[in-house]
Amino acid sequence: MKIESLHLIDYRNIENMDIEFAPGVNLLYGNNAQGKTNILEAIYMCAAGRSLRTHISKELIRFSRESAHIQLIADKGMYKDKINIHIRKNNKKGIAINNVHVKSINELFGTVNIILFSPEDLMLVKEGPSCRRRYMDMELCQLSRIYADNLSRYYRLLKERNTLLKEEKADNVTLDVYDSQLVDYGIKIIEERQRFINEIDIKSNLIHSDITKGRESLEVRYIPDVNINNYEKRMRESREKDIIYRSTSTGIHRDDISFDINGFNAREYGSQGQQRTICLSLKLAEVEFVKEKTGYSPVLLLDDVLSELDRSRQLYILNSIKNIQTVITSTGIDDIVENIDDDIKILYVSEGKIEEK
Ligand SMILES: Nc1ncnc2c1ncn2[C@@H]1O[C@H](COP(=O)(O)OP(=O)(O)O)[C@@H](O)[C@H]1O
Ligand SMILES: [Mg+2]
Repeated sequence: MKIESLHLIDYRNIENMDIEFAPGVNLLYGNNAQGKTNILEAIYMCAAGRSLRTHISKELIRFSRESAHIQLIADKGMYKDKINIHIRKNNKKGIAINNVHVKSINELFGTVNIILFSPEDLMLVKEGPSCRRRYMDMELCQLSRIYADNLSRYYRLLKERNTLLKEEKADNVTLDVYDSQLVDYGIKIIEERQRFINEIDIKSNLIHSDITKGRESLEVRYIPDVNINNYEKRMRESREKDIIYRSTSTGIHRDDISFDINGFNAREYGSQGQQRTICLSLKLAEVEFVKEKTGYSPVLLLDDVLSELDRSRQLYILNSIKNIQTVITSTGIDDIVENIDDDIKILYVSEGKIEEK
């Protein structure tokens, strides 16, 4: 899959912009605060239906304007898909695929498949578990609408259950109904997450060992908060506590992933360099995973991440992205251009405008 073009109107600091992307590497360069990440954010919107930086969509509208518009054309080989997103001041979004309005963001998943790699992703090992759950969910939602539906149903139920607990309206009969539904959706989510991490474990171990020239062996493990066999029992056991603390303490919203290098926990004992190499391996494993599942490469978005890595890891990425459409943002170009043999499209971004170099 390739992104053919992107058209933006009144999106963040961009008044009107048309970009035709090359099928290989596209480099967006320019000083800070010029609009490079805004462009990646708009692409991400077309894949995920939401921003990577804010939940308040009116922030995406150019200051003092009424609405913002994104149009992206994706080339799927045999056919093309056109995505239109219209963002209004009231925080409502209108989304259309091939001019047909879609009701739910979930219908968008899978139309454009992207993998974003930003400096925040380099914190994946170190940060709290929510970013590791996001790593699983972002990929699984793009690949399976059923997963996305199960996940949104789960979170809707969870929110309702927590509201009941907060308002002290939770009686055992109502909680029974909620719990059995949460368990049903939860089990489906656990199964998918387990399958995903099993494959990521194998793929990332190969990549990690390649980057570290065989010195380090990486093991990635899914750590579900509950397992399928004791899910219902654990929900029952924690009910009393949930009523006291007025919040749901057990379930897939507490899941995590663990990383071991040569048998030790990388979160606790890994150096910053080792933790970053894990993140890099995970992202590249994700690319392999998508290729296998869909038969085509996802589009890789590298937001200012190269400057955060040392030279050998930079080169490793640049060598790995052959045959993958990539959009890179950076403040400099020399390091990147020198190390890519293939054709590379260079675009200069300044004050929300773009110019081909
Ligand atoms: N809604 C908005 N309207 C106008 N400008 C905005 C809006 N949101 C962010 N900006 C501007 O966008 C710029 C940041 O763009 P960004 O893409 O993050 O920069 P970079 O090129 O460093 O990646 C800042 O100058 C910020 O003021
Ligand atoms: Mg940026």
